[in-house]
Amino acid sequence: MQQINVSNSSGSYLILQKPCITNPCLQVWSRPSWFPKQRKQKRVTTHHDGYRSNIKAVAVSTEVESKAVKVKATITVQPTVGGFFSELSSGLGRGLDDIKDLLGQSLLVELLSAELDEKTKLEKQSIKDYAQKTHQSTQEVKYVAEFEVPQSFGEIGAILVENEHHKEMFIKDIVLDGFLLGPVTFSCDSWVHSKFDNPVKRVFFSNKSYLPSETPEGVKRLREEELEHLRGNGQGERKVHERIYDYDVYNDLGDPDSSEELKRPVLGGSQHPYPRRCRTGRDRSHKDPLSEKRSSSVYVPRDECFSEVKQLTFQTKTLYSALHALIPTIRTGIVDKNLGFPVFSAIDDLFDEGLSLPPLKGKGILNNLLPRLVKFVRDTEEEILRFNPPATMDKDRFFWLRDEEFGRQTLAGLNPCCIQLVTEWPLKSKLDPEIYGPAESAITTQIIEQEIKGFLTVEEAIKQKKLFMLDYHDLLLPLVKDVRQLEGTTLYGSRTLFFLTHEGTLRPLAIELTRPPMDGKPQWKEVFTPCWHSTGVWLWRLAKLHVLAHDAGYHQLVSHWLRTHCATEPYILATNRQLSAMHPIYRLLHPHFRYTMEINALAREALVNANGIIESSFTPGKFSILLSSIAYDKQWQFNLQSLPADLIHRGMAVKDQNAPHGLKLTVEDYPYANDGLLLWDALKGWFTDYIYRYYPDNGAIQSDTELQAWWQEIVNVGHADKKDEPWWPQLKTRQDLIEILTTIAWTASGHHAAVNFGQFSFAGYFPNRPSVARNKMPVEDPSDPEWELFLQKPEVTMLKCFPSQIQATTVMTVLDILSNHSPDEEYLGETVEPAWEEDALVKAAFEKFRGKLIELEGLIDERNADKSRRNRNGAGIVPYELLKPTSEPGVTAKGVPYSISI
Ligand SMILES: [Fe+2]
Repeated sequence: MQQINVSNSSGSYLILQKPCITNPCLQVWSRPSWFPKQRKQKRVTTHHDGYRSNIKAVAVSTEVESKAVKVKATITVQPTVGGFFSELSSGLGRGLDDIKDLLGQSLLVELLSAELDEKTKLEKQSIKDYAQKTHQSTQEVKYVAEFEVPQSFGEIGAILVENEHHKEMFIKDIVLDGFLLGPVTFSCDSWVHSKFDNPVKRVFFSNKSYLPSETPEGVKRLREEELEHLRGNGQGERKVHERIYDYDVYNDLGDPDSSEELKRPVLGGSQHPYPRRCRTGRDRSHKDPLSEKRSSSVYVPRDECFSEVKQLTFQTKTLYSALHALIPTIRTGIVDKNLGFPVFSAIDDLFDEGLSLPPLKGKGILNNLLPRLVKFVRDTEEEILRFNPPATMDKDRFFWLRDEEFGRQTLAGLNPCCIQLVTEWPLKSKLDPEIYGPAESAITTQIIEQEIKGFLTVEEAIKQKKLFMLDYHDLLLPLVKDVRQLEGTTLYGSRTLFFLTHEGTLRPLAIELTRPPMDGKPQWKEVFTPCWHSTGVWLWRLAKLHVLAHDAGYHQLVSHWLRTHCATEPYILATNRQLSAMHPIYRLLHPHFRYTMEINALAREALVNANGIIESSFTPGKFSILLSSIAYDKQWQFNLQSLPADLIHRGMAVKDQNAPHGLKLTVEDYPYANDGLLLWDALKGWFTDYIYRYYPDNGAIQSDTELQAWWQEIVNVGHADKKDEPWWPQLKTRQDLIEILTTIAWTASGHHAAVNFGQFSFAGYFPNRPSVARNKMPVEDPSDPEWELFLQKPEVTMLKCFPSQIQATTVMTVLDILSNHSPDEEYLGETVEPAWEEDALVKAAFEKFRGKLIELEGLIDERNADKSRRNRNGAGIVPYELLKPTSEPGVTAKGVPYSISI
């Protein structure tokens, strides 16, 4: 045990004012029998390696030194796969580490005072001890250090840890025992690197949150230096053990060294605006100096990678296994990559008999990795890929064919954030007619009035807010020429019009498909409507197939990837670089960012990369990620990521102080908006209480240097290509902060859940949402033999237009995994963060928030049972539960986790 010289400063409220030994009510630790009776007392001079040392030893009187509290620090270490305590861990380093543990010299712990020395105004000398391993099980390993803390030492502001093992350790928490007011917990949940990898000691701050100006003097320097470490110097390739958060553009999606065909443009910059990603510093490609080399493992800061700690990220591992083992196996099993489904019953077979997979080395490998999807049949020694029928298909085998279901899913399906009110008539493209042909839409007043005759005129319908649209015209039309150069896909610009019936449901009225002038042919466009003649019926079905493929691509690339995963990464980077771990806003946001960077790294590796799952299975093909960059450029606005602002922008709501949430919805029964607004309000209420707890007035927002730097960095660096946009909110008031934080948290929780966890339910039976429409409409070139085939066998035309067998099974596999909740999923409001729990006001506010979420669960059940809500209740309709906060494990189409973790 180390005793140190300390100054005779006044005592802290945590430290005893009397010698602890005489007070029976104190929690004083007594040395257990297993603890070495005589340990070598080594005087350790204070120098926080790696941090600037400006500490001087301070003289102290013997009287004060004698009034010391015995404090025990218990460090809980979580064994991890491949980590120090793993059975898998072996080799020379492990042997040396075991010896170090025996000698009790493997973990050096230092207590730092929150106060400065009163006389010198310098930091007090730290108190150090080597922790001894006292307990080891498969669940946890305990180390104990003991200290004599002079009563004048003051509150413990931080703990430094030096890991002298050769391997990193995952420290769960450190509990200090022996103080008058009971144990003090330092929550860590963090990897501590080996000192052989990096000599800088790890710092853990106490669970008490402080604005920068309120930082205890004794840890001010550490607060700043820790942030400097986290920001790094922007040089070199990042190593696995590092915790550096830095920015880069998306220059690692292509693989130009493998083939010219796999070269992709850099996203991020004036040419292709995009959010920034985490910098990895990998070498540049040989063939394209603008691109980074591909690598099998992508750096994420160590604490963002929890895969060896929690079962939760088993999801990530499952996805990894699917991408690296199952999907390549499917691809080798189906020889013809363009082979479609010959008959509809072949699609059903995927859910009944399944697909035999080619043999792999070692029987049952896939079965062990992906038991939900791959069944090992012992009789035949075969592995079968068999899908569980999605809930939608299970309830109604023909749900995908029904027009009212097509309309309903724009309000309560997988992509409920694109439907918009028609406010201008006639519809007109904003694209250059010189390039894209006449701007006027072919959907005329006459066509619409024919469909709604007997009800209203178009003018009345618009005035009464009854006309709605799914508009992928101007976004997709500029890509048509390029996409049509690719094999196995095609593209149109599309508009779909809907009419709000007196029952509150959306009736599809017309679909317009447009091809720009190309290949010497003029612009082509045609309007398709529901019909009472077989040719028209089949053309309508095919037009719907194209629109659904457009919607599926937009959903995956924009509503899901861009708006949630991709846009959130810069928030995470700025939060870790600019807000100290002791900042109350860091602690508020932290659970909303868990695991996101890791899943994003995996997405860059195998989902959105060149020739990855998205490119090979969705309509825009190799232009997929470019489409998300165009959408970012043309459509993305931070202020519209707020649910109320998004609804207003799309004309789906107007402000109304007398209505619930201050909004009157244009479609009253709009399940995504109905449930989403309750969730939005619950989040906002919780954030309001929390922010009022820490910021007494607006001045405190403006003088919070870390907070201001954080917001400036999000705007100017993380979303640099949009930094000059006028719509960025200012951060001057508490209301500004509440709105900004609610928007970020809603994006990571509610919005992501709404577009993620229903993926298998709505797209698992792919005729409902084909990822690609491979062939153009048979009426586009009437001389084409395809027209003849269409007249003879329209069903075959449809099957040929659907995704190929490889595309369908690949997408179904990925969607099944993305829709799955692991047994230890972290749902919104379920667990209270340790720092929240320790503050009575914050804890009470969190309990209120939790209560609101429990209420929301009940309300969603009530709404789904309400027969008057026809967009979520009716024959064969799956209830809308995507915004129900909790869920059981599995593919449930409900449950809102804190963060984007899959
Ligand atoms: Fe996701």
